[in-house]
Amino acid sequence: MIRAVIEGIGHSVPEKKLTNEDLERLVDTSDEWIVQRTGIKERRITSPGEAASTLGIVAAQEALEESGTKPEDIQLVICGTVTGDYQFPSTSCLIQEAIGAKKAGAFDVGAACAGFIYALDVAGSMVESGRYETVLVIGVDVLTKFVDWKDRATCVLFGDGAGAVVLKGQTGTDRGLVKSLLLSDGSGAKHIHCQMGGSMFPAGSKEAEGDARRVYMNGSEVYRFAVNAMGDACCKVLEAAGMEPGDVDLFVPHQANLRIIQSAQKRLGLDDERVFINVQHYGNTSGGSIPLGLYEAQKQGRLKKGDLVLTVGFGAGLVWGANLIRW
Ligand code: UT7
Repeated sequence: MIRAVIEGIGHSVPEKKLTNEDLERLVDTSDEWIVQRTGIKERRITSPGEAASTLGIVAAQEALEESGTKPEDIQLVICGTVTGDYQFPSTSCLIQEAIGAKKAGAFDVGAACAGFIYALDVAGSMVESGRYETVLVIGVDVLTKFVDWKDRATCVLFGDGAGAVVLKGQTGTDRGLVKSLLLSDGSGAKHIHCQMGGSMFPAGSKEAEGDARRVYMNGSEVYRFAVNAMGDACCKVLEAAGMEPGDVDLFVPHQANLRIIQSAQKRLGLDDERVFINVQHYGNTSGGSIPLGLYEAQKQGRLKKGDLVLTVGFGAGLVWGANLIRW
């Protein structure tokens, strides 16, 4: 059986930091409120001239280097993003060109904050099928370009960031993607969206000048959904693999809100040592959140070869899902 093994990981975040104190000067909020309700202390934000590809390219190059992969050996570039540089071409094509992956196909996967979970499963399935041997998967978002900086209910939550992995097909190993679960409920599309620029409200249309321009979120609805979705996806993916929470060495959940992470931790009965949290430094980086977490966990020595890592994400769609990976 061919397994899709993660052989290298990279990351990138913008240099510019935006702290809660900076936000206090922008909107009617406080460090105390943001920390109590979300756990976030600061986030990184892109500057004019930087976009999703800016971060994605750096993360991809680091993943190639770490895995000892030549760009021309990459057969596919798959990028999980909903804040790509343009409507088209896809951001994966911009990354493919910049890193010199001359023999690769390239496409984007749009699943909001679950973008990396979805992209990794798509890539993993293609590797396991034997049709592709070496695939680059990137998760990146730059939601700070789309938030309304006058809306305190959303602008405090998001940051920009990217992570990337190189997947390689291998046999005779138990490392690699073990199981994935992808779910959706489009009836919740109304709870979190950014409508401008699509075919319903094209840029330049009257509607695109209004609220459709910015990220809209019904926070309490998304919160309720998220608490349920995180536990649901984790339990289902573990059950499908014939495993239990006790088998998990490290839990790397989507970093949207500390309270949502803690509720999933409680449901799974995991102690603090087995839960990775960096939401305090980056806020919600959407598609970048999980690969950024995996990257930092590995760098901090909390994720080692052979460990069983459980990732889970949720977001606009509504979508949710989980990947169970033998690192
Ligand atoms: O990846 C998916 C992305 N989305 C999420 O994960 C978001 C999920 N939702 C959440 O994380 C939470 O719902 C929030 C953090 C967004 C909000 O927390 P909450 O405990 O649900 O607060 P709330 O929306 O019920 O608001 C409580 C109060 C309100 O004031 P009133 O009406 O009680 O007077 C808000 O106006 O807090 C107020 N508020 C703020 N106050 C200070 C909302 N945002 C802020 C703010 N600073 N930034």
